[in-house]
Amino acid sequence: MAIALKATIFSYVVHVLGVAGAIMVLVWCISFRGGFAWEASNKSLIFNLHPVLILIGLIIFGGEAIISYKTLPWTKDVKKLIHLVLHAIALILGIIGVYAAFKYHNESNIANLYSLHSWIGIGVIVLYGIQWVYGFVVFFYPGGTDAIRRESLPWHVLFGILVYILAISNATLGFLEKLTFLENSGLAKYGTEAFLVNFTAVVTVLFGIFVILTTLSQPATEDEYAYSEI
Ligand code: HEM
Repeated sequence: MAIALKATIFSYVVHVLGVAGAIMVLVWCISFRGGFAWEASNKSLIFNLHPVLILIGLIIFGGEAIISYKTLPWTKDVKKLIHLVLHAIALILGIIGVYAAFKYHNESNIANLYSLHSWIGIGVIVLYGIQWVYGFVVFFYPGGTDAIRRESLPWHVLFGILVYILAISNATLGFLEKLTFLENSGLAKYGTEAFLVNFTAVVTVLFGIFVILTTLSQPATEDEYAYSEI
């Protein structure tokens, strides 16, 4: 299935929403939540790394990695390299972001893995890792046979989109959970911070939707196999 619109059009919206989402999560964690730290007596500063690294890393870099094949004008080999490097950055920042949540819990004597968000989160990171390693081995180095590549590609695309939808969904669960904790501790339900967090989540969902729309639309260049050829 391909939407009869150029991927480039959707990709502009992706970039704008990505910049907006990154600014919003940074403003939230820096101006409203006190900033970041790796070692601190105020453990919330360790937690703040979690939404920032995950949103900017896993979600925004990950989304840009997904659409890079469809939108960039360069050769297949260059696009493949950009695709795998952007995904590697997304995965590494995502892993550090998840580690920050565990570090925050451990140093604050809070239990680990007690929520739906945390279990789906583990699933997302593990599946994202498997997807990256499989893609690297089959499509890049050492590379599978032509038959294996041909068989694998539709699964790689489908699995990649499903894991990405799961990541976006889980990010919304995370925003919801954190805001609910804050509201239960007295944060105004209609205050500036509550609006900022809710609308950062809305921007995250819109970003995900436009990433998917980009993948379903026409490639930017007339290299008609740009996306599907291995
Ligand atoms: C796909 C994106 C995300 C993944 C994979 C993810 C993953 C995780 C994991 C694995 C934990 C459990 C840590 C532990 O048990 O010690 C966790 C905790 C948490 N995350 Fe996320 N997270 C994501 C996005 C977000 C976002 C955007 C927020 C927004 C603030 C957030 C808020 C939280 C909160 C409040 C906790 C602590 C409570 C709990 O364990 O459920 N997460 N996350």
